[in-house]
Amino acid sequence: MYDILIIGSGPAGYIAAIRAAQLGMKVGCIERNLIGGTCLNIGCIPSKSLLDSSFKYYQLINDYPTHGIDTKDVRLDLNMMMSRKDFIVNQLTEGVRSLFKSNKIDLIIGTAKIIGNSSIELETSEGASVLEAKNIIIATGSRSAELKSARIGHHIVDSEGALKFQKVPKNIVVIGAGVIGLELGSLWSRLGSKVTILEAQKDFLPMLDQRISRQVSREFIKQGLDIKLSCEILEVKETNAGTEIIFKHNEEKISLQPEKIILAVGRKPNTEDLTTEKLISINQEGFIEVDEYCQTTVENIWAIGDVVRGPMLAHKASEEGVMVVERINGNKTTLCYDHIPNVIYTHPEIAWVGLNEAQLKEKKVDYKIGSFPFLANGRALAIGESVGSVNITADKVTDKILGMQVFGPSASEIVQQGLIAMDNGVTSEDFSSSIVSHPTVSEALREATLAMNGKAIHIQNRKKKF
Ligand code: NAI
Repeated sequence: MYDILIIGSGPAGYIAAIRAAQLGMKVGCIERNLIGGTCLNIGCIPSKSLLDSSFKYYQLINDYPTHGIDTKDVRLDLNMMMSRKDFIVNQLTEGVRSLFKSNKIDLIIGTAKIIGNSSIELETSEGASVLEAKNIIIATGSRSAELKSARIGHHIVDSEGALKFQKVPKNIVVIGAGVIGLELGSLWSRLGSKVTILEAQKDFLPMLDQRISRQVSREFIKQGLDIKLSCEILEVKETNAGTEIIFKHNEEKISLQPEKIILAVGRKPNTEDLTTEKLISINQEGFIEVDEYCQTTVENIWAIGDVVRGPMLAHKASEEGVMVVERINGNKTTLCYDHIPNVIYTHPEIAWVGLNEAQLKEKKVDYKIGSFPFLANGRALAIGESVGSVNITADKVTDKILGMQVFGPSASEIVQQGLIAMDNGVTSEDFSSSIVSHPTVSEALREATLAMNGKAIHIQNRKKKF
């Protein structure tokens, strides 16, 4: 009998397994095929690897000459780029295997089905068996959503297929201008594809404040991405040479014949065939119903990560894993779902945490805002990364920081500083009283908090409050 059996070894499952083992529990982790899950094998890690390689290539051609470095004869070796990506993925999945080994976690390769409150039917190449556990954690993750009009095929691919092209497609249509669409669109555009992104919504990146989303849109257009909003996809099909897509945009019916189509229209939880009927509650969208502690309707069955409510993010999934295991161990661990950082790994990066202005208005919070452009930051200029800005909001009464959005250099790192401030109830005044190294791009964050109170040094303040 296991203390905990975990289904799925992605960032939700493998982190939960390690913490459980650290707490002295007997743990098994059942994995169908991808050790380390989508994130390590076909998601975050391979995409960030290729994003980095493609950016280096782009920089060599577009930026290095401005530094006085001649890069006329640069040549792309896509095979090598892909091998590097595969090597990194392998390194990390082997890392998970060895962490399991050193923590004495049973890695069980097979497909699991929950057949009772404490029983799992395991199907492996050698046949079926039943495993028993005091607690079960479901961490089966998600997969790309398909469109009714577009099925995955040879030329129509999802995010997994888009990380495996064997040559750079001449032209690509990406359906969906969300996180995956923008990252993959940027990646292939840097390597030479002509990329068109079709988005159904009328607003571009609606989770961002308009002052940021407008900057992002301007920059991506400059980088060569053709982003069309308010599109209705009518027909998508594969042809001998590639694909054909027909869509409506501004009342006009448009037909394109790109070499590849990338579907990036969201993800669906993997919850089919997971349990015998009605054991736990699963909603119409396929998400497992859980409380704030990730407990399902059955006391000793828990669900974490992409199969439950909340953002489909690896770090959210991992922390849910830790919370659940700590709670099983008798601790009263909780998670602050209001402070989960988000990053889109384009260049520049886009990162945000906390409430945006629309949410603050909806909650009728009296807030103030501070903004600082990277154009006025010495380090950003020195490294040729002066596009974008830092925007930060705080409560007008308590002065506590409520949210921040960054578009610019190291946005993914800068936003973590705001996150720590928010988690600890830091005020904008506290924040701006810290001495920050010069020259760094983090100075832009400090200046944004100063600007909030009319005290920014390197820009003209809108309001003076002292
Ligand atoms: P998403 O929800 O971010 O974006 C999907 C986009 O497709 C939306 O803008 C939606 O309006 C649009 N769309 C939906 N149906 C459409 C249609 N018929 N025609 C045109 N556009 C349509 O989902 P995405 O990008 O697929 O990512 C899935 C999940 O994976 C997200 O929750 C994301 O947070 C996560 N993820 C996070 C990453 C990161 O943290 N950097 C990287 C990759 C994925």
